[in-house]
Amino acid sequence: MIILGIETSCDETSASLIKAEKGGKKVELLTNVISSSLDLHAKTGGIIPEIAAREQVKFILPVIKNAIKNLKKPKEEIDAIAVTVGPGLIGSLLVGVETARTFAYAWDKPIIAVNHLFGHIYANWIKSDDKRDIEFPAIALIVSGGHTDLVLIKKHKETIWLGGTRDDAAGEAFDKTGRILGLPYPAGPLIEKLAEKTDVDIYNFPRPLHDSKDFDFSFSGLKTAVLREVEKKKKLNEKEISQICFALQNAIFDILIQKTFAAIEKYHAKSLLLGGGVAANQTLKKKFETEILNSKLAVKFFIPDKKLCTDNAAMIATAGFFNHELKNWKDVSANPELYFD
Ligand code: KG4
Ligand code: ZN
Repeated sequence: MIILGIETSCDETSASLIKAEKGGKKVELLTNVISSSLDLHAKTGGIIPEIAAREQVKFILPVIKNAIKNLKKPKEEIDAIAVTVGPGLIGSLLVGVETARTFAYAWDKPIIAVNHLFGHIYANWIKSDDKRDIEFPAIALIVSGGHTDLVLIKKHKETIWLGGTRDDAAGEAFDKTGRILGLPYPAGPLIEKLAEKTDVDIYNFPRPLHDSKDFDFSFSGLKTAVLREVEKKKKLNEKEISQICFALQNAIFDILIQKTFAAIEKYHAKSLLLGGGVAANQTLKKKFETEILNSKLAVKFFIPDKKLCTDNAAMIATAGFFNHELKNWKDVSANPELYFD
């Protein structure tokens, strides 16, 4: 079957086509078109919901048109439309959901309502150079700008939320620190680059909830710790900025790895899946790989291709395929507060 995916939960407008066979272990990516209003938000230091939604209204139809341009008869060839219904910004979600409902009505197709967070997890089921199959039970770590969650997946459609952040998400910690350091939004990719310029952690920022026995995270204290260091200095030079970036990454990644490994051991996970924008960070990837080698745990480690870590519609279409409940367009609505059940 062919699924058209639509994603507009934050600042991206994305449409994708995936091809999937019943009983297939992974799906094939046909197209994945992404238009971002990030450049506009870089100037303001964060996302302005009103601006994001206005841009999405402009881009949604051209993006869909581009994604389906190689289909001769889209109306006949597309079997279902998967759309992000939440969580996210209400104005942005509405653009995608109402567009999906309109196409579903006009083409007489079912809709699959997709939770954006499952989308980040399911980006791992898109075919890539990695030919290995994902085995259950799996532990998924979602690390994005809005979320940090640890999830146990017993099998498709059987998921247990283990814990998450009590305040800022991991990506948010990168972005807020970036603002303190005067870096453009979103700061994650630049902090990764700057951190590569040093390898000494002279700050040893706090690792909150390190010893708690749960799977919760807390990152809001990090920006305060960074602010305290920055305020001590009149002006930061390049070396000092790199050292702060390195220390920040170290603190965030230490906690992510420690809690994730505790979950892997507790639930005897056979696979570990990363997802979300922060998973695009190559240092995090290397740290997990090293940790798995050292731990001697027989866990298969998966990270989506870099461009599939950040928001995109291919992951939404894929989550839709594996968790599909086909709905009538009348029964689908946006839910900005949607979370794990
Ligand atoms: O998944 P995503 O595109 O959007 C949300 O659903 O939130 O994630 C965006 C987040 C931003 O906070 C951004 O700073 C962070 O992912 N990010 C990174 C990197 N690339 C993106 N953080 C650390 N290192 C990166 N290379
Ligand atoms: Zn996301």
